[in-house]
Amino acid sequence: MVPYHQNHVDKYHQWMKSQELQELTGSEPLTLDEEYEMQLSWRDDEDKCTFIILDKERVNEGLSEVECMVGDTNLFIQQDDDVKTAEAEIMIAESSARGKGFGEQALSLMLLYGIKNLSVIKFIAKIKFGNIVSEKLFKKLGFSEESRSEVFGETTFSWMPENNSNSSLIYQQKFEIQHFQNTQN
Ligand SMILES: CC(C)(COP(=O)(O)OP(=O)(O)OC[C@H]1O[C@@H](n2cnc3c(N)ncnc32)[C@H](O)[C@@H]1OP(=O)(O)O)[C@@H](O)C(=O)NCCC(=O)NCCS
Repeated sequence: MVPYHQNHVDKYHQWMKSQELQELTGSEPLTLDEEYEMQLSWRDDEDKCTFIILDKERVNEGLSEVECMVGDTNLFIQQDDDVKTAEAEIMIAESSARGKGFGEQALSLMLLYGIKNLSVIKFIAKIKFGNIVSEKLFKKLGFSEESRSEVFGETTFSWMPENNSNSSLIYQQKFEIQHFQNTQN
């Protein structure tokens, strides 16, 4: 995973023209200029954190970073009743890259980053009704349903690492990712 830089914006903008991705991620279409402004905001704002997900196999084949982009993951930090909370988002935009473990590995790393580097106590995820794949992924990593909004057509899931035995799954993931990286190097 790499920080979201200017050179990623063009491809990101192409991805977000997809109506399916807009619906699944609850995103509004932006102009290219607005996407560049958004990139600066994700880079500079204290309450935001974002990484672009790369396909490491393609990186190892020597392809350019832009050619290796498969998605992104974000944390949006908020103070909720004195509990440092982060809304987690994940998108594997390249449909050919889905179902290969990228989403799970990237989200696990992002949650670990939130716990260890940003001192996040609680995570939430807002998932559109019917997005079963995303629900299964977040539940697998320990999230459970907190509330439903008929108005927004989404369910809020939450996870507090201290309270949930599934946090061990994330640490397991971290180990496996490091092991994978070591064997690739
Ligand atoms: C949701 C998404 C991030 C999952 O990422 P992914 O890389 O495809 O998923 P992974 O291969 O890492 O699979 C992780 C888990 O997700 C679930 N999952 C993945 N593909 C699935 C499918 N086709 N059907 C059902 N569950 C599925 C499973 O629980 C899987 O764990 P398992 O392999 O042990 O069963 C990805 O499909 C995506 O970005 N979709 C479009 C955008 C989106 O919906 N973002 C989420 C907004 S809240």
